[in-house]
Amino acid sequence: MANVTGLEGVVAADTDISLVDGENGRLVYRGYGAKELAVAKRFEEAAFLLWNGRLPERDELEQAEKRMATHRELPEPIARILDALPPAAPVMSALQTAIAALGALEGDQWPPTAARAERLTAIVPTIIAYWARKAKGLPAVQPEPRLGHAANYLYMLTGRRPEEAHVQALNAYLILCMEHGLNASTFAGRVILSTQSDMTSAVCGAVGAMKGPLHGGAPSEVVAMLEAIGTKERAEPWMRSVLERGGRLMGFGHRIYKTKDPRAEALREVTLRLTGRDPAFDLAVFVEQTAIRLLEEYKPGRRLYTNVEFYAAAILRAVRIPAELFTPTFTAGRMAGWTAHLLEQASVNRIFRPQSVYTGPMPLAEGGEPERNATR
Ligand SMILES: CC(C)(COP(=O)(O)OP(=O)(O)OC[C@H]1O[C@@H](n2cnc3c(N)ncnc32)[C@H](O)[C@@H]1OP(=O)(O)O)[C@@H](O)C(=O)NCCC(=O)NCCS
Repeated sequence: MANVTGLEGVVAADTDISLVDGENGRLVYRGYGAKELAVAKRFEEAAFLLWNGRLPERDELEQAEKRMATHRELPEPIARILDALPPAAPVMSALQTAIAALGALEGDQWPPTAARAERLTAIVPTIIAYWARKAKGLPAVQPEPRLGHAANYLYMLTGRRPEEAHVQALNAYLILCMEHGLNASTFAGRVILSTQSDMTSAVCGAVGAMKGPLHGGAPSEVVAMLEAIGTKERAEPWMRSVLERGGRLMGFGHRIYKTKDPRAEALREVTLRLTGRDPAFDLAVFVEQTAIRLLEEYKPGRRLYTNVEFYAAAILRAVRIPAELFTPTFTAGRMAGWTAHLLEQASVNRIFRPQSVYTGPMPLAEGGEPERNATR
């Protein structure tokens, strides 16, 4: 059997959860366009959809929101464990430690349940906010039961009631991060769960995969670009000088999406609705329009469109989430997709066990010659 490096193109699972269609620029969550969900639904509704395969009725949503509000509280022993970690530890490591400790504290086990998915998804923003404030020497802010998932995250980070525009923007971002097929972290989680391990352990593995820069992304380069540009007047000369030097504009172009990335489109739509109320959004929209025009001029026919990193950076910057929290915030959204995949894996479970090809030395045979490796 041929070895496929990186398993590119290998189908490792059937899924009802999402379709990633790079040629046609479509991202579908259980029959609904992710873009439509992001602009019209709350995080809790979209997560319910991923876990249950259908949108909630009004009373089901109310119940789910109440449960998530309860689940958002950080147990005291987990806070103590976070306090014991060195402040310089990476936030993704702190998150992974806290989730693992939660499993030990609460005794998670096979098979995974939707209740556990809710519990884990609800608590992740609390852990991130607790850690972020601790790192700055600030006291923790308790979750506010009357606020939803996105609003609570901003509230716990800042201690202030967030602006509605910021809540809408972050809500859309979190929904668009929720799910993207069998990416490395989702696959890692499914592999762990396939051993009949518990959901918490699988999520810890997924967080570990997300921590790597090849997966968790680095929209901070886009932030650096937006900050270097600074004003609308500087946008065109700044980008022209990059393109003249053969450089690249950060946040444009994509290896898979050769048409518009649906996630970038959705984030732009949300951003446009909010433009005018926030100078950071306004600058991002202007920079994008200018960049598209200049890329067509300098790189005609290359099909270079805005990628998700551009608006991820623009939105996170505009809602005042610091760059070091970009990957954890992405993780907070992806929790819903991971846990949905873990429920799906359990429903069709067979342990993952691919093969490897031995390419090392063979023992010496009697004549002193290495034995032949008959498996190659
Ligand atoms: C995302 C990316 C790596 C995809 O690369 P790819 O599909 O393999 O495209 P290629 O690197 O083969 O580039 C194809 C052509 O488009 C140009 N191009 C691609 N992205 C560009 C960009 N963002 N700015 C300027 N030119 C770009 C290349 O210079 C190349 O031009 P050429 O044909 O004259 O040599 C690439 O578009 C890129 O580097 N984008 C900028 C970085 C970025 O946004 N990363 C996301 C995280 S911040």
